[in-house]
Amino acid sequence: MKTAVYPGSFDPATRGHIDIISRASRIFDRLLIGVLTNSAKFPLFTYSERVTMLRDLTVHLPNVEVKEFRGLLIDFAKENKADVIVRGLRAITDFEFELQLAQTNKVMAPQIETIFLTTNLKYSYLSSSMVKEIASFGGDIHAFVEESVAEAVYKKLKERNEK
Ligand code: PNS
Repeated sequence: MKTAVYPGSFDPATRGHIDIISRASRIFDRLLIGVLTNSAKFPLFTYSERVTMLRDLTVHLPNVEVKEFRGLLIDFAKENKADVIVRGLRAITDFEFELQLAQTNKVMAPQIETIFLTTNLKYSYLSSSMVKEIASFGGDIHAFVEESVAEAVYKKLKERNEK
């Protein structure tokens, strides 16, 4: 049985993330989505909001689980007996960071491989940050995220503006 971890901030999960999740779920026996807060970013959604959104979005995929984690990705992967870390690669601009991450993790746990799935061309330009920026200026984000996620983003931004 092969277990893969797909880590990320998912703030919020985009159609590009969902595409990677559904493809990875067909490759591995068990896919664990690890939701964390990237120390370089300030999330719009709390951990539990992001976990709940991802659980709702993946309810039709029986071998997918969603958990939050804090700390090192490699420790989360080891604790959950993962064989593989999955990351999506959109463009060459992602490559340098992803290579550094993969190589560092490989030194810390040589038994865990990192595997990259190339993002579907339709979503190769897409990022959660861009989705939030478009929404914050009142733009339409439905092409980039599922309906339920779009509603959650608009609601959260409205609440934030009212504070
Ligand atoms: O969705 P993101 O924000 O691009 O995901 C980044 C992520 C989660 C892969 C990276 O920030 C990460 O692994 N953070 C956990 C802390 C860690 O393990 N750092 C050492 C990496 S070598």
